Amino acid sequence: MRYVGLSVLMTVLALTQPSVSVGDDFDREPINYGTTQPRDCISRLQKRLDQAETTLKYTDSSGYLQSVLSELQVSPTTQMLVFSKTSLQRQCITPETPRAVYFNDEVYVGFCREGEVLEISAVDPQLGMVFYTLEQRPDAQPKFVRQTDSCLLCHGSSQSHGVPGNLVRSVYPDAGGFPILSSGSFRIDQTSPIEKRWGGWYVSGEHGTHKHLGNLIIHGKKEPEEIDNSQGLNVTDLTPRLNLKPYLTPHSDIVALMVLEHQAMAHNLIIQANFSTRQALHYQAQLNLELKEPPGHRWASTLSRIRSVGDPLVKYLLFSGEARLQSPIKGTAGFTDQFAKQGPRDTQGRSLRDFDLQTRLFKYPCSYLVYSPVFDALPADVRDYVLQRMWDVLNGKDSTPEFAHLSTADRTAIREILIATKPSLPAYWKVEPRLPK
Ligand code: HEC
Repeated sequence: MRYVGLSVLMTVLALTQPSVSVGDDFDREPINYGTTQPRDCISRLQKRLDQAETTLKYTDSSGYLQSVLSELQVSPTTQMLVFSKTSLQRQCITPETPRAVYFNDEVYVGFCREGEVLEISAVDPQLGMVFYTLEQRPDAQPKFVRQTDSCLLCHGSSQSHGVPGNLVRSVYPDAGGFPILSSGSFRIDQTSPIEKRWGGWYVSGEHGTHKHLGNLIIHGKKEPEEIDNSQGLNVTDLTPRLNLKPYLTPHSDIVALMVLEHQAMAHNLIIQANFSTRQALHYQAQLNLELKEPPGHRWASTLSRIRSVGDPLVKYLLFSGEARLQSPIKGTAGFTDQFAKQGPRDTQGRSLRDFDLQTRLFKYPCSYLVYSPVFDALPADVRDYVLQRMWDVLNGKDSTPEFAHLSTADRTAIREILIATKPSLPAYWKVEPRLPK
């Protein structure tokens, strides 16, 4: 038994390859990750629980899950099922008993049947992802317990851009859910080709001619090129594959998966832009003190560090390099409608949450996360830089190939939607631009 446990841990570590030692950088000034009091939706919920303004209900089937999702306003239509043993409570995860993940713009919730805890990561405007567990046993006063090292081992590694962030992976799983690492594994975001996605996940939805690695269990030794996943494609009903009664819904919606993949990396890049800018400004202030320069003296190296995190963020928020769809995508869980209806909308009824799902994920390719508190809380230096670069692209001043996927009509629509729906844009956004014909 002991040997098995150890080998699983080694496998998971090999998969996540933490290359930044835990808390090394972000536990110091100016981030102080571990010692700063978080201000996220879980700390707010805990306060309401402590003040008896609300309570959590426990059920025998899923513990606190339903109640927590409802308090956090996370829709069960976001449910995605992952059966690879690639995360914390791996002993509970198998193809028969997958882990369920739910999310909204602010929080991610992981649930394992028979799991000892709910696993939660919440976005804090200054700390990035903050991790919590909630014990899955009836308690008069349930407590979300903040976790650091035990989660950062994987969620604070090079796999999450060296910041406390999210992970989305695709692996080749065997019948026990173990990833077959000799076949390879992929870190997934919106730029990943569809054919590499969803290994180790159940996927419910239609996707035409697209191939992918979802719903696939590999029996025996096989080279990746010998793998035939024809049985795993265009699956709209997962019920013949496993007992779905213990889950909140019988779905693992393909569109929810694609939105998660967009959002998880977008959060990582926003957090990276926040941390790197604050670290650069902190370093600059120290340097100015030592070299007896005035406190506001600017170093070229500070600006270049801000650019080096701002540019990838702008590209990602505007979906540069997004995997192109060859066939339409359709989910099964009602996620698509539930997500889109949240808006906000401009006077023409347009929203950044409107889906395309014919050739790309969204109709207007600019991330809805520009509305989120974590984006607005970016240090002014990098937020101004990002908004200026976005403006350059949207008014046609930047015509580099990186943004060639945005037609003039796309740029105009995104610009108009943002001006109508996002308060606090810089004044120059309101000036009528001159777009190329
Ligand atoms: C052994 C590595 C590992 C550890 C340790 C770990 N996780 Fe994860 N976690 C993952 C991986 C990999 C994923 C991606 C989904 C998957 O493969 O299951 C993930 C996904 C998640 C998600 C869904 C959002 C996302 O990032 O995709 C949450 C929430 C989460 N983990 C919470 C936690 C919490 C809370 C802890 C600590 C108590 C923790 N995790 C510890 C590996 C880990």
